[in-house]
Amino acid sequence: MNKLSDRIAGLAESATIAMAQKAREYKEKGINIISLSLGEPDFSTPKHIAEGAKAAIDEGKWFDYSPVPGYGDLRKALAEKLQRENNIKCTENNIVVSTGAKQSIANVMYSIVNPGDEVIIFSPYWVSYQAVVQLTEGIPVEVKGDISNNFKTTAEQLEAAITDKTRAIIYSSPSNPTGAVWSREELAAIAKVLAKHKNIIAIADEIYEYINFVGEHVSLGSFPEVADQVVTVNGFSKGHAMTGWRIGYICAPEWIAKACTKYQGQITSGTNSIAQRAALVAITADQEPTRKMKEAYLRRRNLVLDLLNEIPDIKNYTPSGAFYFFPDVSAYFGRSSEGRTVNNADELAMYLLDVAHVSVVTGSAFGAPECIRLSYAASDEDLKEALKRIKDALAKLKK
Ligand SMILES: Cc1ncc(COP(=O)(O)O)c(C=O)c1O
Repeated sequence: MNKLSDRIAGLAESATIAMAQKAREYKEKGINIISLSLGEPDFSTPKHIAEGAKAAIDEGKWFDYSPVPGYGDLRKALAEKLQRENNIKCTENNIVVSTGAKQSIANVMYSIVNPGDEVIIFSPYWVSYQAVVQLTEGIPVEVKGDISNNFKTTAEQLEAAITDKTRAIIYSSPSNPTGAVWSREELAAIAKVLAKHKNIIAIADEIYEYINFVGEHVSLGSFPEVADQVVTVNGFSKGHAMTGWRIGYICAPEWIAKACTKYQGQITSGTNSIAQRAALVAITADQEPTRKMKEAYLRRRNLVLDLLNEIPDIKNYTPSGAFYFFPDVSAYFGRSSEGRTVNNADELAMYLLDVAHVSVVTGSAFGAPECIRLSYAASDEDLKEALKRIKDALAKLKK
């Protein structure tokens, strides 16, 4: 009998991947689909980083299993970066390099969460947070921010959600899916709450650190009162356009770093050696390509903001980072076109794919079923065309 474990059977398929699959099917039929559904930079990995990988291959000495937590020089460079840019006190002993930030997060959850432990997830949230808490048999507790506050969960909301079962909290800033960036004051208030609960570990996902339009990126791990409670997650996928290279890392208190190394040592071992050599180049070389990409994202954000503002009945706000818009589109629920009624965000996303030939992601995947997520990691031309198509398709929906 094809019987899956309860753990896997109960796991939702990633909504972003499901939507991309549907879009691919349309494309195979020759239909011009504009994809705004994936969380992936549309830039190529900067050349000097790729050259670093080539040089490592040519050196012919990076073929053995790499050390489980990552090469020492890479971990040292990452620790220096975290001290210099993030004001986090650490050494290479706090760093574990993994196969993407996704694995880093899973490593941490498996290392600290017992079945029945509660994990507070700032909502709207990145899809995999829920899934990985579920896999560890922890209990996800969603604490949702309000759109009037760019969907940012507040320190007061956090405090109210903490119980004696709370083991961890997790959030991303800049946020996927909302693009919100928590300010220094907001994080200071959160740190104050956490400092009262020394048994709680905070997982601060900073993978969009370099795509921040408000100037200052603040790391929760830089607040001294919680430095022993914070795991900072980061990686190379977004800021360095290296999604496929699969390099992420954590900076964690040593006991957690050791546990993650133990866990990783059993399930994957050290990550790809050549990708690590490329990551070392990415982190130590001039960051000009990263800055240029950020400028391009900012320009596109402004472009999409103007175009979205032209669409009636959408509740929107200005995202401060990452490369997503997450508007509230619930005013369109219950409206119909040609006998087809759109009842929720899932149906609206499917309607936009079928009618506008634009793929977006339903907000229900991120804990906000009144929203849809649009990624603007796409060309200006595609963005203009996609927003025009969305506007036209929505205009067809009548009450
Ligand atoms: C908030 C967030 N964290 C982590 C990741 C995973 O990054 P990586 O490619 O390093 O696994 C993503 C990717 O979409 C993300 O959006």
